Amino acid sequence: MSKVDAQTLAEWDHRFIWHPFTQMAEWLREAPLIIERGEGAYLYDVHGNRYLDGVASLWCNVHGHRHPALDAALHDQANRIAHSTMLGLSHAPAIVLAKELVQRAPATLTRVFYSDSGATAVEIALKITAQYWQLVGEPQRTEFVSLTEAYHGDTIGAMSVGYSETFHRFHKPFLFPCHKLDPPHVFRWHRGLSEESALDAALSEAHSFFRERGAHLAAMIVEPLMQGAAGMWRHEVAYLRALRMLTQEHGVLLICDEVATGFGRTGKLFAVEHAGIEPDMMCLGKGISGGYLPLAATLVREEIFSAFLGPYEAFRALFHGHTYTGNPLACAVGIASLEVFEREHVLDNVSARARQLEQRLAKDFVPLAHVGDVRQWGLMAGIELVTNRASRLPYPASERVGHKVVLAARRRGVILRPLGNVIVLLPPLCITEQQLDELCQVTWESIREVTEHHTS
Ligand SMILES: Cc1ncc(COP(=O)(O)O)c(C=O)c1O
Repeated sequence: MSKVDAQTLAEWDHRFIWHPFTQMAEWLREAPLIIERGEGAYLYDVHGNRYLDGVASLWCNVHGHRHPALDAALHDQANRIAHSTMLGLSHAPAIVLAKELVQRAPATLTRVFYSDSGATAVEIALKITAQYWQLVGEPQRTEFVSLTEAYHGDTIGAMSVGYSETFHRFHKPFLFPCHKLDPPHVFRWHRGLSEESALDAALSEAHSFFRERGAHLAAMIVEPLMQGAAGMWRHEVAYLRALRMLTQEHGVLLICDEVATGFGRTGKLFAVEHAGIEPDMMCLGKGISGGYLPLAATLVREEIFSAFLGPYEAFRALFHGHTYTGNPLACAVGIASLEVFEREHVLDNVSARARQLEQRLAKDFVPLAHVGDVRQWGLMAGIELVTNRASRLPYPASERVGHKVVLAARRRGVILRPLGNVIVLLPPLCITEQQLDELCQVTWESIREVTEHHTS
């Protein structure tokens, strides 16, 4: 690509691009920040300015940008072939990565169905569920249940189970119905209960729901331990364990969507490990390729896979696939990423940095007048800003408080992206002690700058 100067790029961006999850009227009023390159936990823009990547390039970067081992795997594979289909053919990177994933995943998960984004991994889990129950002679199991404010991606099925009024209301007529259970966070934060009573209330709701609808349920889908896009809604392992027990008792499949929590984010390779549970399916994306390339996978129990077997003419096969499913470049980088986890003791760094983050959050952020709550699992944290801590009154959307904090942090050399008024800290797992200090310091200063004159 011939070099285009920074100003022309900015003009062309405004003229030709429609950015995702972006109010373009606002975007077109601001100069776009155009990234040219990355190095470890830092991003560099077209003017040479350096920024700490505080949200791991939308929660996917794991070992940093331009990691030598991942770059080498990418180049090595590019020297062989960039893409070849998984429909009717196979290739070494997909085969080896599948074996490596199965070895590391909960023992019940033995089959890997590839795709290319978190939403497609979820969509596939839903389609497998729907077909599975018909194939095994329980066609009455057609209903799904998920958690209030769950987010599972933006395709039609994923929106149906992950419905958010703010994001998806225009598409509501096109979505299928899905039951909702309130997670403990709703009881605690929105209804003012203590942590313990919130858990009890959520469990009691779940028990009565399963007693009522259990026989008709096809699957429950959950983001284990942390509902990311809801605003970092954390729950305890006890809740996840209870959901596993309830689904098992009622013969319902449990799908764990580890698109955000997977690959070390919460301190274990997969969040379900904290709870010691084994789901029936697991959706993986984001960090699966170290955050390099679009890749996703739906991991499935052997018994579910077996139900799809039969003579060709019975048409029991799963008729689902995408052109770039299991792309060889992405799979090769995925294998290298798993090797780096072990070679560089990445999870040890996550534990140390998570403790550091927990201390900083408690010491510096909790006392701030406009911080209503902080929630964290590993290197995944949300700082909820409120106009008034006692009444938990949220800032009106029109004040764009989260966005203002992002702009203040950017001026100080840190990239953040909020979820409404929740400031998200989700750095690459390779972040060092000093870089994490920088991230916390800048975020703290930015929150103070934006909120300190606010009275209400
Ligand atoms: C839990 C969860 N599931 C699914 C998705 C969708 O992933 P993608 O954006 O790759 O489609 C996301 C994205 O943030 C997510 O957090």
